[in-house]
Amino acid sequence: MTTPHRQVWRDMTLFDGHRTMTEPMAVVIAGSTIEAIYPEAELDARTLDEASEQGRGGVMTPGLIDCHTHLVFGGQRAGEFEMRLEGASYTEIANAGGGILSTVYATRAASENELFERATPRLQALIDDGVTTVEIKSGYGLTVADELKMLRVARHLGQRFPIHVTTTLLGAHAIPPEYKNDSDAYIDLICQQMIPAAVAEGLADAVDVFCETIAFSVAQCERVFEAAAAHGLPIKAHAEQLSNLGGTAAAARFGALSADHIEYLDATGVAALRDAGSAAVLLPGAFYTLAETQKPPVETLRQAGVPMSLATDANPGSSPLFMPTLMLNLGCTLFRLTPQEALAGMTSNAAGALGHPELGQLAAGAPADLCVWNVETPAELAYAVQPNRLHQRVIAGEITHG
Ligand code: NIG
Ligand code: FE
Repeated sequence: MTTPHRQVWRDMTLFDGHRTMTEPMAVVIAGSTIEAIYPEAELDARTLDEASEQGRGGVMTPGLIDCHTHLVFGGQRAGEFEMRLEGASYTEIANAGGGILSTVYATRAASENELFERATPRLQALIDDGVTTVEIKSGYGLTVADELKMLRVARHLGQRFPIHVTTTLLGAHAIPPEYKNDSDAYIDLICQQMIPAAVAEGLADAVDVFCETIAFSVAQCERVFEAAAAHGLPIKAHAEQLSNLGGTAAAARFGALSADHIEYLDATGVAALRDAGSAAVLLPGAFYTLAETQKPPVETLRQAGVPMSLATDANPGSSPLFMPTLMLNLGCTLFRLTPQEALAGMTSNAAGALGHPELGQLAAGAPADLCVWNVETPAELAYAVQPNRLHQRVIAGEITHG
């Protein structure tokens, strides 16, 4: 049996996914796994002898996890941005047949190769800002073939780049033009054809819906959740973003991994998340871009002990923002998270929102996905908005940056 390659980082200021450690730590990796973490003072000569030293000093965090993105899409929506600046709302644009649907037309028209090429610089931006795991949703195809096309592109990105990709089928993102007057028939298509086809090709790790007046009702979302459950897929929901319909509570009844956006969530909805053990995914990029004023119930979530995650929601409409560390800042400035909560939101709590609790933490036995940053304290990552602070990025024990 060959001994795995051992690497050591010394004198690190550690944010371990939950908290910042007070004393300098040494981190030892064996192969693709974290072998041990202990105070620098306890590092023994034998370990030093057997492991190659990869760094000394700096801030180490788990690799960032962006647990909610729409990275694969055709076209762009700068025109819609201008319309909003002239006074049109996101809802008005959607109701006039623009918004998500305009990206649907561009995505349908694009080949798998084109979508891959266009998603590449966006994914690279996340990688360069410290992301080691990203969730990518479909939702701009809205036919069986086009949704599967998007998911294939997402899987392909995960094979070609040094990053873990999880995929989410978001067939219920908008009512496609073909079903304009019969959205229930589109829900039939999702339940009877789209989910089974995605499962047959192994393309979906979860199923998501958009529960909103401009998208699908609670009853329609529940039908999608039932079909997902019948196929053994976990569920998520875009819910309570623009109004309080009760989508979060419905998702919680199905044991959702997470409810996302949730600006309009009330105390009953928070209790539903708590009782189901579901995560709250906060998306300050969409709140910022749409210049919303209704904030998610952070204090109620905090009191209830609901794990709060943060993500970019990177997409061409509501959040054309491809900088994960900016979300740490926006989570604090806009939603009043503490820097530690923001960092947990993009590490351990994001891992939970993806159903991968083994990720997002620095602990013995955890996968060796981590970042070393050119900052003095972990809180600085949330305090300043500044690119190029990543010093080293390690995924499965391989240094891929620095
Ligand atoms: O997460 N809320 C719905 N879906 C996306 C927006 C997609 C778009 O506008 O293209 C979101 O904000
Ligand atoms: Fe989204």
